[in-house]
Formats: sequence, C-alpha cells, structure tokens
Amino acid sequence: MNQDIISDITKAPIGVFDSGVGGLTVVREIMRQIPNESICYFGDTARVPYGSKTKETVTKFSRQIVRFLKTHQVKTIVIACNTASAYALDELEKEIDIPIIGVVRPGAKVAAEVTKNGKIGVIATEATIGSQIYNRYIQDINNNVTIYGKACPLFVPLVEEGLWQDPVTDEIAKRYLSELIDIGIDTLIMGCTHYPLIRSTISRVIGEEVTLVNPAYETALELKAMLQERGLLNQEAPKLGSNQYQFYVSDAAGKFKQFANSIIKYGILSAKTVNIEDY
Ligand code: DGL
Repeated sequence: MNQDIISDITKAPIGVFDSGVGGLTVVREIMRQIPNESICYFGDTARVPYGSKTKETVTKFSRQIVRFLKTHQVKTIVIACNTASAYALDELEKEIDIPIIGVVRPGAKVAAEVTKNGKIGVIATEATIGSQIYNRYIQDINNNVTIYGKACPLFVPLVEEGLWQDPVTDEIAKRYLSELIDIGIDTLIMGCTHYPLIRSTISRVIGEEVTLVNPAYETALELKAMLQERGLLNQEAPKLGSNQYQFYVSDAAGKFKQFANSIIKYGILSAKTVNIEDY
C-alpha cells in the first residue's frame, strides 16, 4: 500500500473477511454495486469451519483478521461471514476505530420488510442459529413475525466440494427444508455466505413462491450507503494495474484461487498465504 492511499482515504481498500470462500459471494456483490472500490479479502481457509466453533474462538480468530486487514490500511471492514457477524461484531465494533459491518443485520432488515404471512425461515450454521441473532434483529424491526431457524451444516462442505447442482445436494436440501415447507414460511434467509452458491437448489426445493433473501446483496447496498454517508466512497475508477483486488488466505492458496475464479468472473490473479496466528 503506498503513501497516495494514505493521503486519500477514499482510495483505501475495503477489508472483507470470511472463514474461507463463502465471503466471495459478498465480494461479488461489492464488485457489482460499487465497482470503483478496491478490496482486500482474507479467507481463513486453515481454520474453516467457524460454524461449529465457540464464540470465544470465533471472536479470537476475527480479532486477528481485523489486525491483519488493518496493516493494509483498510478504510472499513465487512465481516462477510454470518457466524463471525453473529459472534464477534458487537465486540469488534467496540475495539476498532474504523466502521465495521456484518452480514446479519442487512439480511434481517429485508426479511422483516418482505414477509407477508409473518413466517420467516433462516438457514445457517449451527452457531448462527444457536446465537438467535436473526431473531433479535428481525424482531427489533417487526414484532409480528415468527422466525424458524434450521442449521444446515452439510451445505458448507457440499458447496466447497463444488456439488452446486447435484442429486446429493438436492437430497440433503429436501431433508433440511422439509419442516420449513410444512410450516409454510413465505421468506427464507440464506444465513450463511456459502448458500447463495446453491440458490437454485434451495429455491427449487423450498418452492419458487418463497422469497429468498441473500444477505450478501443487502450488505453491499448497506456498505455503499454507509460509505456515501461518511464521505468514504471512491469517486474514481482505480488506475489500470493498481492491484484493485487482493486476496489472502491462511492455507491452500492455489485451491482458493481456483474456487474463487469459479465464483468471481473477474479473474483472480493471485492469492497469498498469511500466517494469521502472527497477528
Ligand atoms: N461462511 C460461514 C457463514 O456465513 C459459514 C462457513 C463456516 O462454518 O465457517 O456463517
């Protein structure tokens, strides 16, 4: 990062992190909605999954990643992981001097607004469901709704194995979603950043009349509004060759790069490995 960026904060990158590749669905939306912005992404591929870990552990990991991202002089941080947003956002907000947002509140807000029958389903990791974070945010906005949470732990490895359109994924989705179908939800939050990658399977199984909420999309909108409000939005397209998108992981950079290139059509040139325990 050079001195020019330090002197003009709007040119500084946005820090984005996840436990691994799921946060790339958020990166994809940020690239679409605010294309002038630079991004510094960290995927904690050595320590994924977060969804089965404790609050203490996920908060410790998130704190290390925030320290790492700050060495890249990021102007803001997006926690592109529902589990880390559920467990660590409140703590981190108190600790850092730049704006930080998670993916849970933006998704909760839209779901609370779009439901007509007041029955909202949330699918996510065990940690996110157990934290009841979506219930809290949604009921703050709309008290007349009922939230039905369902942990779907097998979706993450299915996505990571590339089984996005596969009979196995269909079968698992049918098992996970059957109780939500019986309840008659009209809105379903994909409360894990991996899930938008199997959106078509989820939609087919739950029924096309159910509104699917993708918090990644809503988060990019909220990020844009926040940057605008604080005068942090980059008004100019970055110069050619300026290394607009940088990717870091804690393990297996080659595999990450391959996976990332199947999600982000932009073409990721490199992903570097970082020893995150040093931060
Ligand atoms: N990306 C994480 C989330 O949104 C799920 C993967 C994990 O368990 O680490 O919750």
